[in-house]
Amino acid sequence: MAVREILKMGHPTLKMISEPVSDPTAPEIAAIARDLEDTLDDIERGAIAAPQIGEAKRIVVYRQAQRFLTDPSASLTGKWSVLVNPVITLLTEDRIIGWELCLSIPGLHGKVSRHSRINLSYQTLDGGSVSEDMEGDGAVMVQHECDHLDGILYPMRMTDLSLLEFNTVPGAMAEDAGRGVQLWPPLQEMVDRWRQN
Ligand code: NI
Repeated sequence: MAVREILKMGHPTLKMISEPVSDPTAPEIAAIARDLEDTLDDIERGAIAAPQIGEAKRIVVYRQAQRFLTDPSASLTGKWSVLVNPVITLLTEDRIIGWELCLSIPGLHGKVSRHSRINLSYQTLDGGSVSEDMEGDGAVMVQHECDHLDGILYPMRMTDLSLLEFNTVPGAMAEDAGRGVQLWPPLQEMVDRWRQN
């Protein structure tokens, strides 16, 4: 299909409440999902939401291996999950605070507080329904991506904006990494590059 341009923070589509998908089996929905996959493949990244390519529809795509930090290389080969009309139900008030990146905010990373356990329900491209409980990194990733469907970018979830940093600056994230805090593979690669220089 096609690699699409990724919209950047400030674009009005990223601030919209996206529309529910009325027919998850419609060919145009499958086409959007494939474009999202192609766009991720092109930049070797693992998760994206439809508004980020200018489609204000409630669709999120990610690689299942993105759920796990244990095998960074798996993020490039894992099976795709396509979430149509995803709904998150919070299962705990417990929080995870971790570093996040966003394709729509290139050049920056920030430390964000998320709920540690959620239920995720969604429809599939073949019209099925799925409900699953998620915790840890997978739950964080899904909360980040589903926020895009409501016009929310991760800085809007931050409680301490002093922890919004440029990717070129080894700051608080580098300190966390030095203490052995586990990072998403793209963030760990950033830390590794700082260490080489
Ligand atoms: Ni994002």
